[in-house]
Amino acid sequence: MTAHFITLHGQRVTAVIEVHDDEAPIWRYWGPRLADGAEPGPYLRDTRPLPSFSLDHDQPLSLFPTFGLGWFGQSALLGHRAGRDYAQSPTGCTATWITPGTAIRFDLFDAVAGLEVAITLKLDPDSDVLTLSTGLTNTGDAPFEVQWLASGTVPLPQNTTHIRSWSGRHNHEFIAVEDRLSRSLWRRENRRGLTSHDNFPGAVVAADQAHYGAQLAWSGNHAQCIEWIDDGQYQWQMGEWFAPGEVILAPGESVQTPEMLATCSTLGPNGIAQNFHAAIRAAMDWPDGRMQPRPVHLNTWEGFYFDHDGAALAQLADAAAEIGIERFVLDDGWFHGRHDDTSSLGDWWPDAGKYPDGLLPLASHVTALGMEFGLWVEPEMVNPDSELYRAHPDWALQIAGRPLLTARNQLVLDMARAEVSDYLFDKIADLLATLPIAYLKWDHNRDLVTAGATPRYRQQVQATYALLARLRTAFPQVEIEACAGGGGRIDAGIIRHTHRFWASDCIDAVSRIAIQQGFLQFMPPEIMGSHVGASPAHSTGRSQSMTFRAGVALTGHFGVELDARQIVGQDRETLAQWIALYKQYRDQFHHGKLWQGEAQDGLVWQAHGDADELLLFVYRLTPSGQRHLPTLRLDMLDPNRAYRITRLDPVDPHKHGFPPAPALEAMRGAGLEMAGGWLNAVGLPMPPMKAEQVALFRIVGP
Ligand code: DGJ
Repeated sequence: MTAHFITLHGQRVTAVIEVHDDEAPIWRYWGPRLADGAEPGPYLRDTRPLPSFSLDHDQPLSLFPTFGLGWFGQSALLGHRAGRDYAQSPTGCTATWITPGTAIRFDLFDAVAGLEVAITLKLDPDSDVLTLSTGLTNTGDAPFEVQWLASGTVPLPQNTTHIRSWSGRHNHEFIAVEDRLSRSLWRRENRRGLTSHDNFPGAVVAADQAHYGAQLAWSGNHAQCIEWIDDGQYQWQMGEWFAPGEVILAPGESVQTPEMLATCSTLGPNGIAQNFHAAIRAAMDWPDGRMQPRPVHLNTWEGFYFDHDGAALAQLADAAAEIGIERFVLDDGWFHGRHDDTSSLGDWWPDAGKYPDGLLPLASHVTALGMEFGLWVEPEMVNPDSELYRAHPDWALQIAGRPLLTARNQLVLDMARAEVSDYLFDKIADLLATLPIAYLKWDHNRDLVTAGATPRYRQQVQATYALLARLRTAFPQVEIEACAGGGGRIDAGIIRHTHRFWASDCIDAVSRIAIQQGFLQFMPPEIMGSHVGASPAHSTGRSQSMTFRAGVALTGHFGVELDARQIVGQDRETLAQWIALYKQYRDQFHHGKLWQGEAQDGLVWQAHGDADELLLFVYRLTPSGQRHLPTLRLDMLDPNRAYRITRLDPVDPHKHGFPPAPALEAMRGAGLEMAGGWLNAVGLPMPPMKAEQVALFRIVGP
């Protein structure tokens, strides 16, 4: 038996693994950066005598803990061969560097169970994100059924205390859930077939000296668990959730997990977010390899719903162009027979009644105004009332003898069938080839129930990724938005094929603040679709000022989703001002770092940029409970320099203002100078604000 240590270093993160040639590699450390050369010294077993009532073989946490041969915690693999080989344990291990110092592959062999496992670990030094994935091959002579195969298993330190995960529903995504970790198993599972509104596939964990975060790059079923282990550490596993019978490997066959992205930071949840943002940005596949400034959108959905009238839409485009909109997205309602949500999904050609000359006249009108034209599609779906379903009822996922369970009156197409994906490719390619379409909004408005006679949930996801990839290869200039009834498919998997998420169908600015906070924990702001909606908001009935709605939407990929023809007078002027502000500063929102938090007295804030220049958004949701307002500490600023602070938000016209204060007035003029050290430790004086108001500051070093 030979053994050695392997160390992966990021900028601020280190992973240390103890490798033996006859077992799975043992986790020794994953956490804040260790000094160069800080290795563990003795091997782990040499540091810990056997406890009483324990096996005579000490089995520590490995990268691939397995059931039945001495590990009593959660296994990274659960599987069997018609009842045999349910107990696994690697008998051999080799380590091969992919990139010396940062990326390595471990090949594990279980000669008894007839399995091979390849675990890949990559620690990206730019983002400090550790990417883990696992491949399993059946080297035995009979099928092997896999019930669970973790993408990765990582250790969490002994003083880990809390976990924050995100739940939700349609119109209310990213509801934060705080749980205290204990010796009980913490587990979340999603079995809705797509990423889901209910269970974001990621979480952030707090330990005494650092925070840890992980997310799964997958758009289907998923599970994660955290479990206390005998030495007081915790293990965190994340992976795809398999339905019974979903993965049965024939001899020689393999299954590859999605990637788990994991990171650690001593800078709190904002450090975790910054690391994830860097990793997601690096994984994005933009047309021509580079993100262009994110154009201001006009989306027709909440302004028009299914009520498409060519002349009215042309007027809408005129009104949009006049206030500075740059991309006009024609949402649901444009295709054959689609007058409400009861029919027509699958019939992807223009409705002859609404568009007698097709979509070209409207699309050309839009592009002649200098805007890009975008189109909504929902390719994975079919309505029973459609030409497509009447021609191919067998293309919908179903089980003979079981009811066809509709949701929003629709069924799900069997994407893994070549004739289905060919049909969808041809229909969408025809639209993209004949119209000046720069952008597709790709929707998915239901959960999956049955996934075929045998479960093919994962094939459904893979086939959708493949269709997206095929379309992107054929039409590389087209950007795609991932939407699923708002935020039902937000994950690091689909974003490799797309360019933006529609975070929620709820455009109420108060609701959006919390939704966006959760989103931004994992995804960067430039891919967060955020719109100014109507007032009262269609989803909640609450009314907010134009300034507040725009100030909340500004921090993402900004857009407008209302009938812009009806926006007149002061509101129109205010909206145009915010659009101009967005254009002026979008580079900073979309390339910088992000900090967000909640301050005293009900303030919620977000800061974008870096220590040289910050844009600070402060939102007040409820009226102040204090006579004098608390200051807002900005500990990301450089303590050794001075900053000039100006207010950028257009003055919110209201009848009952506050008395002036000279320093606050100065921010509206030449600016107020303050020391970074003071802003760090004591904070920025806050202007009085009413409920549902926003203040936007620019904080610049000399
Ligand atoms: C759900 C989406 O989230 C909405 O934005 C809109 O596109 C509708 N679908 C259209 O049916």
